[in-house]
Amino acid sequence: MSTEYDFLEGKLPTGGVPGEARCPGPSTRDIILDDKDGVPEAIVTEAYEFLGDEDIPFDRYTSQEFFDLEMEKMWPKVWQFACREEQIPDVGDTITYDVGRYSTIIVRIAPDKIKAFVNSCPHRGMQLRPSESFTCLKQFRCPFHGFTWELDGTLKNVPCEWDFPHISPESHGLDEVKSARWGGFVFINMDPDAKPLEDYLEVLPDHFKNWPLDQRFTTLHIQKTLPSNWKLAQEAFLEAYHVLATHPQGVPTAGDANAQYDVFGDNVTRFVHTIGYPSPHMKKPMTQQDILSALGGDDLGLKIEGDQTARDVWGAYLRKSLGEQFGIDLSKYSNSEMMDSIEYHCFPNFFMFPGISLPMVYRFRPNGEDVNSSIFDLIFLQPLKEGEKAPQAPQPHVIDIETSFTKVPGMRAGLDFIYDQDTWNLDMQTKGIKASRKKGQTLGNYQEIRTRRIHMTLDKYLSA
Ligand code: FES
Ligand SMILES: [Fe+2]
Repeated sequence: MSTEYDFLEGKLPTGGVPGEARCPGPSTRDIILDDKDGVPEAIVTEAYEFLGDEDIPFDRYTSQEFFDLEMEKMWPKVWQFACREEQIPDVGDTITYDVGRYSTIIVRIAPDKIKAFVNSCPHRGMQLRPSESFTCLKQFRCPFHGFTWELDGTLKNVPCEWDFPHISPESHGLDEVKSARWGGFVFINMDPDAKPLEDYLEVLPDHFKNWPLDQRFTTLHIQKTLPSNWKLAQEAFLEAYHVLATHPQGVPTAGDANAQYDVFGDNVTRFVHTIGYPSPHMKKPMTQQDILSALGGDDLGLKIEGDQTARDVWGAYLRKSLGEQFGIDLSKYSNSEMMDSIEYHCFPNFFMFPGISLPMVYRFRPNGEDVNSSIFDLIFLQPLKEGEKAPQAPQPHVIDIETSFTKVPGMRAGLDFIYDQDTWNLDMQTKGIKASRKKGQTLGNYQEIRTRRIHMTLDKYLSA
């Protein structure tokens, strides 16, 4: 495989109007429209606006005071992805979702009804269920003194009730947390006055009409501890600018400098970067057959014929092979939906990919109250067959800071190493930030706009 790209060529910025410049050459939109295969309008919609170019202070990632402010003012106010519906498929199934000091129990109380409660006993505060646990219950029973509640949170039984004339079902039911569902995801919001989830999700319900994620199911769930602040960890996944230096193996077949970045509102941003088209950093021209070979086409006996592009052949291959593997017809999906890296982010910490071959969901949250570590949930989804019910989600495969994604059974070869490359950076970046005498990080105006947007939205909560 050729690796002749202009990584080491010296170039310095030349000025210009902030936010206006784009990488020379075909844009992501140009490449996708050139497929001429009826890509959904949502993918080629563009939404960028210059949001300033001030440095983002480093202490936002390292200061305990800043972390505590997020705990106090942001986390209790935002809609958060708590679990997938197929993690709690049956009545009585419960799962606990923790973020920092907050712990919430999500329970299915009827086939189509889910509720959430603060995971704390109204008697003396005991956690009703351990953190990060799954179980199926007939009722809630506190492990300390045995108060019990119905699945819907109604107080049912108080041992030695004669000693508690001062409490009632009204005063000592479980403390309900707002919950809502979209796309097979269950969200919670600790703010009783939170605006509806549909409003919070901005363009997502509209864009994802093309890709109903409630018609998909979890095939693999990995949970890894990362050695950095939760924001630093997720920001490693918000741009394709790092592909050249961090994932050089992707340069012959992946868009990076020409990736598209969109900011749809305070909460939702997106990138789209193409697969099957060389990075603008590639110096040496590649034929369509070269690109197909770099995608792995040689081992599969794939050949370019006539005026086909590598994207045409690779898209057709994926529609056929994944269609057979999933037992469904994928012919309605465009090349872009089949192969490109299309990543939406919803504030504060939830990522979802509508693509078929890159079908991930990410969540990044603080690891307890530690400012310097975080928990990364990496979930893979697969489309269901028509009319099929999602099978119960597998338990998360939990790995620690040192363990490589390559050690996870079922993890796709190639992608595993990419996640290692991304997460290996975090320890050195955290150490570098702490050592820095510069006030903060400097962001690219276009390629790193999503990071800036997240900090701006965070500031709205912190200053409220
Ligand atoms: S702390 Fe829960 S019953 Fe006592
Ligand atoms: Fe990466």
